[in-house]
Amino acid sequence: MARGALATTTAALALLAAGAAGAQSPAVEAGRQKAQMCAACHGPLGLGSAPDAPHLAGQPEIYLAAQLKAFRSGVRRHEQMNVMAKALSDEDIAALAAWYASLKIEVQPPR
Ligand code: HEC
Repeated sequence: MARGALATTTAALALLAAGAAGAQSPAVEAGRQKAQMCAACHGPLGLGSAPDAPHLAGQPEIYLAAQLKAFRSGVRRHEQMNVMAKALSDEDIAALAAWYASLKIEVQPPR
């Protein structure tokens, strides 16, 4: 087999394997790791675990990124979140927004 073809086949197999294992996009994976420092309040899967912390799972990516930037710049004020967001780069924010937006939630009407 020609070298190029082998490389292509290997790449395709790697993609298949990644798909089978349910691997996410690199941004989502990076966000999942970053989000460990958010879990104390927002829960490991983005469902608020502190009484005053909102759910983040399933929120729109654009909204999450906008709120984190607003906390970072101080436009949106909240003591804890202003401190948390200060340390985040644009890349961190994009990854965290991708991670929380990728979590699927289900809602049920009241019975
Ligand atoms: C010490 C607890 C705490 C930690 C840690 C924390 N948060 Fe928060 N977060 C809050 C609280 C409380 C609010 C609600 C803020 C308000 O009332 O305006 C909030 C709000 C938010 C919001 C706005 C949600 C909305 O619906 O508008 C986002 C987005 C968010 N946090 C993301 C994060 C991310 C990402 C991290 C980790 C880098 C993080 N938070 C870490 C407590 C925390």
